[in-house]
Amino acid sequence: MADPSDSELARVLEASAYLRSQLGDVDPEIGIILGTGLGDLAKNIDVSKTVEYGDVPHFPLSTVESHHGRLILGNLEDRMVLAMQGRFHLYEGYSAKEVTMPVRVMRELGLETLLISNAAGGMNPLYRRGDLMLITDHINLQGANPLIGANIDRWGPRFPDMSAPYNGELRALARKSALDRAIKLQEGVYVSVTGPCLETRAEYRFLRGIGADAVGMSTVPEVIAAVHMGMRVAAISVITDECFPDALEPVNIEDIFAAAASAEPSLTAIMKDVVRNC
Ligand code: HPA
Repeated sequence: MADPSDSELARVLEASAYLRSQLGDVDPEIGIILGTGLGDLAKNIDVSKTVEYGDVPHFPLSTVESHHGRLILGNLEDRMVLAMQGRFHLYEGYSAKEVTMPVRVMRELGLETLLISNAAGGMNPLYRRGDLMLITDHINLQGANPLIGANIDRWGPRFPDMSAPYNGELRALARKSALDRAIKLQEGVYVSVTGPCLETRAEYRFLRGIGADAVGMSTVPEVIAAVHMGMRVAAISVITDECFPDALEPVNIEDIFAAAASAEPSLTAIMKDVVRNC
């Protein structure tokens, strides 16, 4: 019987070989996953090449309207970056392995650092819509894990350590950037759920009670895969809605996008500083 891990590895190697052929001999160092409403960081990249997801063998295709689906290679703050404009979520029907496939490909291309943004609901009562939150730690409540199945030893160990998934030096750079620029930067724990429905009041109360400051539907699978492969990771959430169970307002997805857009200049500035200095 064919070892299923062989086919996962084979798919990733085929995709990375294709991308290598497209990128030429440029070696990007930093991967960036641009989340909901945050795709405009891409405008700051001096683009040398874009590749549509649909052209990469085995790459999933983004089904969310607000997400583009392409990889951007280019110069950002004098560093070569490879940015994913458009990411994948479990709620689209993808498995955790499919969601993390692009991160596996990034590592195969030699990238060692991964920066991520996302939209999240704020449950910490001190948070306000439009705030940024530097993720200090996470709780995986997705009932899925990209590492389930045969371990691919080439990528990392069977039981990877998760004592510090979010790199301390990158976090310090983000914190310094925010301080220098007088940007309010919260720090907290992100809990991942599958979505796509938002949470009930009882669920927000529960998620807050287990120690989370913000809740969202992405990021954790990618972080697990990246940490498995020894990458340095930093992630920042835009708090797009206030999820206080005793004062919960119905949430409108347009409001979520508007909050993400309003936070975009601050998030872009911090990400650029981290890229320049990391
Ligand atoms: N819950 C889950 N995901 C989210 C939320 C939320 O309240 N806001 C933005 N993404």
